[in-house]
Amino acid sequence: MTLELHEVHAYYGQSHILHGISLTVGPGEVVALLGRNGAGKTTTLRAIMGLTPARSGRIMFDGQDITHKPTHVIARLGISYVPSGRRLFGQLTVLQNLQLWQQPPRDGSRWNLERVYEVFPRLAEFARRRAGSLSGGEQQMLKIGRALLANPKLLLLDEPTEGLAPTVVGQLSQWLKLLKDAGLSMLLAEQNALFALKLADRGYVLEKGQIRYAASAEELRQSPEVRAYLGV
Ligand SMILES: Nc1ncnc2c1ncn2[C@@H]1O[C@H](COP(=O)(O)OP(=O)(O)O)[C@@H](O)[C@H]1O
Ligand SMILES: [Mg+2]
Repeated sequence: MTLELHEVHAYYGQSHILHGISLTVGPGEVVALLGRNGAGKTTTLRAIMGLTPARSGRIMFDGQDITHKPTHVIARLGISYVPSGRRLFGQLTVLQNLQLWQQPPRDGSRWNLERVYEVFPRLAEFARRRAGSLSGGEQQMLKIGRALLANPKLLLLDEPTEGLAPTVVGQLSQWLKLLKDAGLSMLLAEQNALFALKLADRGYVLEKGQIRYAASAEELRQSPEVRAYLGV
């Protein structure tokens, strides 16, 4: 699995938001997409998923051109998107939410309900509860568990730490580390740069829809310029 964006431009109506984004995510890599609020992180993930399709440029996934493919086809090819906020079916139970996304296993990605419950025992415990009654951290867990059941080759995560208490952010970091160790590739959009750079191998810093820095996580962590820009 390799994801490659070449000079991607995206718009909301007349507003030109992404100005030529080029990035890659290699097999088993965790790549951070950093930048201040409004920099274009979410739009980049939406462009990959075909939700805000690229108006020019090219997006390649696993050797296929997905630039103009519809979202459900992109999902079926093996990209799972975990949007920010509480995008769950709050009236359905935890189990029902999980089952909705279930896809057959594929080479290199063999998630089923049992394995998801092993990683997130709380989801097993709360299987019959309404998803809307879970805490912020538990809902994040459910969103990730649900995305895993689609058996993705690549997971796109948008601001997973948003709104979580610091102790839960620590747990989230451990869960994502488990997924990384299981070989899952991830593109992690975060305003919380320190969180993302602890987990990531490499990162990109976006500013006004352009890539301002691209480097290893280590270099980004240590660069005074990047730290000043991100306010960390
Ligand atoms: N639906 C929309 N319509 C018009 N402009 C939007 C919309 N969503 C986001 N934007 C604008 O696009 C820019 C990038 O937003 P976004 O990708 O959400 O940034 P980030 O995720 O880095 O905070 C911002 O200037 C934002 O105001
Ligand atoms: Mg965003």
